[in-house]
Amino acid sequence: MKKVAIVYYSRTGRTKETAHLIKELLRGLEIQADVYGLRCVKEYGGNYIRMVIDTLLGRTTDYKIQDGFKPSSYDLIIVGTPIWAGSISPPIRTFIMDNVSSMKNPIACFVTSKRRKNYSIKFRNFLTSLGYNVIADITVVDSKVDSENIVKFVKEIAKSLNSTTK
Ligand SMILES: Cc1cc2nc3c(=O)[nH]c(=O)nc-3n(C[C@H](O)[C@H](O)[C@H](O)COP(=O)(O)O)c2cc1C
Repeated sequence: MKKVAIVYYSRTGRTKETAHLIKELLRGLEIQADVYGLRCVKEYGGNYIRMVIDTLLGRTTDYKIQDGFKPSSYDLIIVGTPIWAGSISPPIRTFIMDNVSSMKNPIACFVTSKRRKNYSIKFRNFLTSLGYNVIADITVVDSKVDSENIVKFVKEIAKSLNSTTK
């Protein structure tokens, strides 16, 4: 059975909700997904100024991930983040920078945002520029409104996994 890891950061729960929805949709296609939420060592709380400044300056931030996350034990990794000031959140930026050499797996990425813009394409291009092999991306503004596209995203992931069956 193919195994997928979903790694996300979520401050107010919307990205977390989307991560779990993707997990359930994958389960419907008989693909097992483990979900890992990142936590900032120094959480942002309601400090919007710090969120915006860290994001605009492309700063990294210390984070924790549950014990047991081992990229090599997965066939594919899905990375999800909220959009802050037009970009990916600092903890996810840090995670992907930290794992450039260890995550050789195909990657799919998703973002959640208030506005409907091509944020996930920007994220995808950033991952590609670092050398990641990105197979799908999606921007989610509302998980109900976007449900059809989320299903499409999950099917794309399943197709990619099935095409690598040995
Ligand atoms: C500091 C900050 C900056 C944000 N900047 C943007 C933005 O530039 N564009 C946008 O569409 N949404 C923006 N948002 C909205 C979030 O991306 C959106 O609410 C996201 O789904 C929150 O995810 P979460 O609940 O997982 O933390 C911003 C939110 C915060 C807190």
